[in-house]
Amino acid sequence: MITFDAEKKLFWLNTSGSTYVLHVYENGDLLELYAGAPIPCDDLRALATRPRCASFSPADARYADEHFSADTAPMAYATFGRGDFRPSAIAAENEDGNLVTELKYDSHRIYAGKPAPAGLPHLYTLTDGDASTLEITLKDPYTGLTAILSYTVFEALDALTRSVRVVNGGDKPLILRRVMSLCADLPEMDYDLITLWGRHDKERNFDRRRLGHGEQGISSRRGSSSHAQNPFAALAKAGSDEDHGEVFGYNFIYSSNFAFTADCDYNSSTRILMGIEPTGLAIRLAPGEAFQAPEAVTVRSDEGLGGMSRTFHKLYNRHLIRGEWKEKKRPLLINSWEAAYFDFDTDKLVAFAERAKALGIEMLVMDDGWFGRRNDDTTSLGDWVVNTDKLPGGLKVLVDRVHALGLKFGIWFEPEMISPDSDLYRAHPDWCVHVPGRVNSVGRHQYVLDVSRADVRDALFSMICAVLDETPVDYVKWDFNRNISEAGSASLDSAHAGEFMHRFVLGTYDLQDRLTKRYPGLLLENCSGGGGRFDPGMLYYSPQIWTSDDTDAVERLSIQFGTSLCYPASAMGAHVSASSRTGYETKGDVALWGTFGYELDPVKLSAETQALVKEQVAEYHKYYDLIRRGDLYRLICPWDDVRVCAWSFVSEDKTQALATVVASLHRHHECWRLRFKGLDPAKTYRDEKTGETYSGAYLMRVGFNMCNKLHDGQSEKWYFTAE
Ligand code: DGJ
Repeated sequence: MITFDAEKKLFWLNTSGSTYVLHVYENGDLLELYAGAPIPCDDLRALATRPRCASFSPADARYADEHFSADTAPMAYATFGRGDFRPSAIAAENEDGNLVTELKYDSHRIYAGKPAPAGLPHLYTLTDGDASTLEITLKDPYTGLTAILSYTVFEALDALTRSVRVVNGGDKPLILRRVMSLCADLPEMDYDLITLWGRHDKERNFDRRRLGHGEQGISSRRGSSSHAQNPFAALAKAGSDEDHGEVFGYNFIYSSNFAFTADCDYNSSTRILMGIEPTGLAIRLAPGEAFQAPEAVTVRSDEGLGGMSRTFHKLYNRHLIRGEWKEKKRPLLINSWEAAYFDFDTDKLVAFAERAKALGIEMLVMDDGWFGRRNDDTTSLGDWVVNTDKLPGGLKVLVDRVHALGLKFGIWFEPEMISPDSDLYRAHPDWCVHVPGRVNSVGRHQYVLDVSRADVRDALFSMICAVLDETPVDYVKWDFNRNISEAGSASLDSAHAGEFMHRFVLGTYDLQDRLTKRYPGLLLENCSGGGGRFDPGMLYYSPQIWTSDDTDAVERLSIQFGTSLCYPASAMGAHVSASSRTGYETKGDVALWGTFGYELDPVKLSAETQALVKEQVAEYHKYYDLIRRGDLYRLICPWDDVRVCAWSFVSEDKTQALATVVASLHRHHECWRLRFKGLDPAKTYRDEKTGETYSGAYLMRVGFNMCNKLHDGQSEKWYFTAE
């Protein structure tokens, strides 16, 4: 998978569908000469030099080739201040007070398998044969700063991960002001930039724009990956679409501040950077100290966005999601939030559980409101002690009654928060994130608990364990309902204040790691005011994430389609709720795409709806494997047609397919056809509903006439099996 041509100093990184070529130039600079469809080991060294703008792109006077300039060369890890004026991957402030950084090749090693960056979420291998890694060590001859770049290729999945470990190998302190995880220079700029923007209740909307000259990109400075921008971006070749053309997909395995930048220079080539957003970042490295940057993933596809998504899904299902629940069937749950909000007690929850049991639901989740004096959202975060007015006799009484019905039981926490009106805050006002002397902003009436501090984490963890040790709990929903302002910690001195945001997220990871290790059977679901932290970092700790608080089936379409660009169905929390303009059939069909569950008062359901729920429960079981393990084909996307959406799951062996179409708006009197994708053209498929048979070729090329078939908010699905 990875070879080194010592004579030409070329590294060849091959996956089944892509080749990446790195080169050590004669001056020691590391270049990335090629990224694209597989090519044989030709001599690519001529690609090192790109036209340069005379004296305005400086050259290194020590080297002969006057055409070579760091300002135009395809730098593999661009440094600041040495004549490359494009945005850099790294800038380290040295004792002289400047940020000039230079990195020259020192050594490399190639090995089977993949490194596991300690304390950070990352992709992992199941066997060493899954992936190969190239580690290249670069050194700054002036300061001793050392950067160890890791490139891991997953051969079968056409994916590449990159990360960097920076070591202060000198004898004076250094401050990292920028340290991106991914740097790549593409020779052209005829790409569209695709990103996922959003807000609370409207996450991961598709945005596609043409690259223009200069810098463009997305970022988060919220102390969270955020609703506003997902740490995902794709560069899609001009003219590429859902099924055709070259696409590079980038995803950052991190849950805090991030930036993705595409910079198109005067040569109309494109520099890509992805990593921690550098505003305010200052990582102090004493001599010998090291910093590990998070991983960034690149997936390349020649089958458009659809091909890219299918690779991400497989990659994350196999190499990111962990633990018992990676493969185990997830329980079909009912959550109390939209059913009761803060207004519940043991009897009400048990009544939910009894009805849920009768409907075939497998787990009851008690959401916000069970602790302290929490009867609305103004109080008690941090006081993780059961409110015995609501739950007389404590948690055990409730859980025993729910378990006795044969249902699992889940509970909600928001560990990284503290209410100003809480016993915890009154006892430890310095435990909240704050900047001394400044007024702290509130978000949803709450402050952020300073989990960058080990002592705070220990105290918090003990409180959580005291609850979970009282009685066996099967599931935890981990929420995070504001972003971080006044980002400071009472425990960080001024020299380390610029590390706060990173230390905070490491604290979150540490807590989730401890929780899942202490309770290995626990199913953890992350959440952040819906899908405000839907990122691969969170997915490493929790196999499913709540996608959005918007449970309206029609509005969910764009949210789920956007989310599916990068994240698998197995990760997307999706529930049927009472609040929707559509009928329960459509709600069920849309929620079936995700982890599936209910978010309503089951006691209030009519007999007719209860019958329907039972059918949906049966469908959940019937299609579970197909949806979790099959390939997603987006048939009609909301960004192409606001009126109708359609998607399908096709089993890997192409013997089964489930296709769903939802009409947000009736395409009145219009003749349109629904064509399927991903089937075997030579196979004969039987439509389960009608018993009719069709060739795969017919279904994909001719399709079904949908004229006047669906009215506003209606859905239909087809289940095909190959004969
Ligand atoms: C935000 C979540 O997204 C909701 O599902 C719910 O858990 C509330 N928080 C509870 O406060």
